Amino acid sequence: MDLMRLDGRVAIVTGAARGLGADIARGLVGAGARVVLADSDAAGGAAVAAELGQGAAFCATDLARDEDIDGCVAAALGGFGRLDVLVNCAVLYLDPGLDAMRAEWHRALDVNLIGAALLTARAAAAMTAPGGVVVNIGSVGGKFGAAGRALYPASKAALLQFTRNAAVSLAPRGIRVLSVSPAWTWSPALAAMAGSEARADAVGGRLHPAGRVGRGADVANAVVFACSDMAGFITGVDLPVDGGFSILGPDAGRSPRQWFADS
Ligand SMILES: NC(=O)c1ccc[n+]([C@@H]2O[C@H](COP(=O)([O-])OP(=O)(O)OC[C@H]3O[C@@H](n4cnc5c(N)ncnc54)[C@H](O)[C@@H]3O)[C@@H](O)[C@H]2O)c1
Repeated sequence: MDLMRLDGRVAIVTGAARGLGADIARGLVGAGARVVLADSDAAGGAAVAAELGQGAAFCATDLARDEDIDGCVAAALGGFGRLDVLVNCAVLYLDPGLDAMRAEWHRALDVNLIGAALLTARAAAAMTAPGGVVVNIGSVGGKFGAAGRALYPASKAALLQFTRNAAVSLAPRGIRVLSVSPAWTWSPALAAMAGSEARADAVGGRLHPAGRVGRGADVANAVVFACSDMAGFITGVDLPVDGGFSILGPDAGRSPRQWFADS
């Protein structure tokens, strides 16, 4: 038996209409799972579902709406007959930093944290357990200080803490909860800033000891591993998929001798 395969399993992936969520859905289908693509972007979600064929179905889902959260769990049970995996990947990059108004804080946390938490509870209640898995997509943005941002990093840091609490709460039912935290990863958001993959690697590579930014497949492979029986005794922890970004300190991995030599 190949412990990395997910044949027969059914997953929900939020934010799967584009970017890393779509790549994670591709990875799960490639490993044998069937996937419900839950996203508020109907056109994008339908296009990814069409690309993935029989193994995927799109379910229009706004994570800020309780009835939609129930609806995507029902879509997995109704369409594929069971539920084994949830990947909370959807995100709202809304972040005016310290200028944010209360309504903006509510909106960002509603999608990035509260929607993920409520869906975790609903999905876990419906999961085939033991053996169920929840993977929350974190970010290096939730681990370090950065000027001008507040809502997104706070939501990601909270999601990592939620991961630990949910892992302990759901362990008695045999459901594992982990997070996977990328650093800079080629995606629509990075493409809008960098313009090309080559430029993303040239600029971002300086911040990643691996010398390049991540790719969706890097993140998807880690999620497949986290969902597989190969990771069957791993729960509550964060798996950085960041080419070493998060092992660096403020000295960017360079010794005092190197800093003085260059200044
Ligand atoms: N791109 C990166 O470099 C990077 C780095 C670290 C972490 N991440 C994390 O990876 C995940 C995916 O990031 P991405 O850059 O691919 O994002 P993206 O913006 O390309 O995609 C996010 C998806 O979430 C969906 N979404 C937004 N609001 C929603 C709502 N209310 N209900 C349902 N769906 C909603 C969007 O429609 C979109 O399809 C996020 O959790 C992000 O924090 C990304």
